[in-house]
Amino acid sequence: MRIVLAPMEGLADVYLRRLLTAQGGFDWVVSEFVRVGQRGYPDRVFYNICPELRHGGKTDCGTPIRVQLLGNDLEAMAENAQRAVQLGSYGIDINFGCPSKTVNRRQGGAIMLQEPESLYRVVNAVRATLPPEVTVSAKMRLGYDDMSLMLDNAQAIEAGGATEVTVHARTKLQGYAPPAHWDELARIQDVINIPLIANGDIWTVEDYHACVATSGTTDVMLGRGAVRCPDLASRIRQNKMTGAQWQSVRLLLNEFWHDIRKTLPERDCAGRLKQWVNHLRKVHPDAETLWHEIRTEKQCPKLDRLIEAA
Ligand SMILES: Cc1cc2nc3c(=O)[nH]c(=O)nc-3n(C[C@H](O)[C@H](O)[C@H](O)COP(=O)(O)O)c2cc1C
Repeated sequence: MRIVLAPMEGLADVYLRRLLTAQGGFDWVVSEFVRVGQRGYPDRVFYNICPELRHGGKTDCGTPIRVQLLGNDLEAMAENAQRAVQLGSYGIDINFGCPSKTVNRRQGGAIMLQEPESLYRVVNAVRATLPPEVTVSAKMRLGYDDMSLMLDNAQAIEAGGATEVTVHARTKLQGYAPPAHWDELARIQDVINIPLIANGDIWTVEDYHACVATSGTTDVMLGRGAVRCPDLASRIRQNKMTGAQWQSVRLLLNEFWHDIRKTLPERDCAGRLKQWVNHLRKVHPDAETLWHEIRTEKQCPKLDRLIEAA
């Protein structure tokens, strides 16, 4: 069983990654994506998205981090992949799932799922530039508009030289609408020889077991489920159904708040806090109460007091 913390742009940033991986259970984490538009990005681009590279490519508790790249320019992808690995990234992950209009307009992300050959070329270019022992992985959805190219896409990723593939069990068109189609993952695993990591809608330990039973893989990537239940990965390992109580989660929230307060400009703090509380309230009634107290508040000193009292 391998459990990976999902890349989540603007949500699973360095602060949340630090906290979530510290709860245990994760084998590695994938960074928010670096949009690759040109060759030879300066190091600061990688350090901005993945500050962990300054600390041996690991979060504070020692969980390795893999930089995710998004783009379709072969030389630019290869060159930046090489640099990210030199800076300490634990392999390279390639994003073929991003639904963003801006990204898709430039022919990157999920739109590439319409042309398996383009997936092959990008994976192959990145693979060819990296030493053989460095992992190259890719993350895809079941398709763009439909699932007709799902098997071809997974096979193209394997043929390009990836050593594992994560599949978010929805098409781009399906967005984030439930359910995730875990049964399709079994069909994909049947036609490839590299490990498949299942992703999408694993919110509970029960969901983990259902996903394993349906998809046939024991490897999973957790996204929003881990944001809402920070101990989800460690509970999956222990097969413990009941999650942490609000008393412990609020301590994490407090830690998070102190962390961003001392590092980020004041204008950015409230938004980051609200984003996490908005997720936590889906699971914790106390977070719902806190949400109503903070949702219109912009002043950090006021938020300091509300978080303290939560
Ligand atoms: C706010 C947010 C940002 C995301 N950013 C990325 C990203 O940078 N790269 C990527 O491959 N997937 C990204 N995703 C997709 C997630 O990695 C994951 O595939 C998706 O949330 C489904 O998994 P979940 O149901 O466990 O959350 C993002 C998802 C969310 C909610």
